[in-house]
Amino acid sequence: MRSSPPAFVDKADRYRFLKPFARQQSGPPPIWLMRQAGRYLPEYRELRAQAGGFLNLCYSPALATEVTLQPIRRYGFDAAILFSDILVVPHALGQKVWFAEGEGPRLEPVTSLEDLNRLDAARMPSHLQPVFEAVDRIRTALPSETALIGFCGAPWTVATYMVAGRGSPDQADARLWAYRDPEGFGKLIDLIADVSVDYLSGQIAAGVNVVQIFDSWAGSLPDTEFDRWVVAPTKRLVAALHARHPEVPVIGFPRGAGEKMARYIQGTGVDAVGCDTSLSVDAMASIADAENVVTQGNLDPLLLVAGGAALDARVDQILEALNGRPFVFNLGHGIVPQTPPEHVARLVERVRRAG
Ligand code: CP3
Repeated sequence: MRSSPPAFVDKADRYRFLKPFARQQSGPPPIWLMRQAGRYLPEYRELRAQAGGFLNLCYSPALATEVTLQPIRRYGFDAAILFSDILVVPHALGQKVWFAEGEGPRLEPVTSLEDLNRLDAARMPSHLQPVFEAVDRIRTALPSETALIGFCGAPWTVATYMVAGRGSPDQADARLWAYRDPEGFGKLIDLIADVSVDYLSGQIAAGVNVVQIFDSWAGSLPDTEFDRWVVAPTKRLVAALHARHPEVPVIGFPRGAGEKMARYIQGTGVDAVGCDTSLSVDAMASIADAENVVTQGNLDPLLLVAGGAALDARVDQILEALNGRPFVFNLGHGIVPQTPPEHVARLVERVRRAG
């Protein structure tokens, strides 16, 4: 944790979202939800059908802007998140990426140094220009008090998709490459880390106010590998961003890190940490106190499907445990498609009544 949140203080006057980062929080915590734009919203499904493909949504500044704004209009979250995907980075490097209908992402796997050498970072800026244009349009269209979150995938998580060519339950292909040939695998990780710095910097230059690094598969690595493939590259990313953009907080989301959370926070220097559903609220409170860090999380996305008294009770429990600490309300992972939109409204109302 940087010793000086002052860089955030000016911005916290404008964006309620930044109050916990400036240690000025009072009343209800800010709220946004991972995957707040997406298939649970009928207006998203309609636009998605017209766009004729998920990547078309991501690369059309007008459509990406519209989709980003949809949940803000409905719920008035304290932050919008840029509508895009972590896999636009490998795509920009020249890897083939596509989204098979109903099956999730597919990539032409990168499994050797030869494949790696065919990737080309020089393609990045022009390929990602539509994303930066979307950021500019979104920032202009958003209510002036709503923060805009930019993001990328962490090097480890992006590498797991690049190597396996798809999502995999155990990330075995990337783990095996890392064990058999750490030097070669390290080149892939370094490449992703380098281009991610420029990618997030570009988003910040275009108007995002906060960035989040999604490490969805951080939990699949044992300690030594966790330090090498999760902590070390994230630290490089965070240090470069802090040096270039001291006023922009960095949220890390090392899903599944569990008891390695303190190590992640101390090792990476993130300003906030996204907590998955497995962490107890007491553990989150202890982390906030011991590490002087903002915590974010960690409602079970399935409680948002279930709704009712179970949802209310857990929301209250989270709010009570984190009350008085620098905290951002969120889920422990993304909203799932079967979530009834009215349950999201119920959640936002309950959080806003707190404090
Ligand atoms: O959070 C948001 O609202 C912003 C947009 C966003 C998307 N993906 C849109 C999306 C963000 C931040 C992501 C991050 C992302 N993408 C991650 C990290 C977070 C996580 O969920 O663990 C990962 C691992 C990906 C890769 C990816 N993209 C997968 C595995 C899938 C398929 C799973 C699924 O939910 O369908 C996607 C597709 C995707 N990304 C969709 C959306 C809205 C669904 C696409 C569709 O409309 O069919």
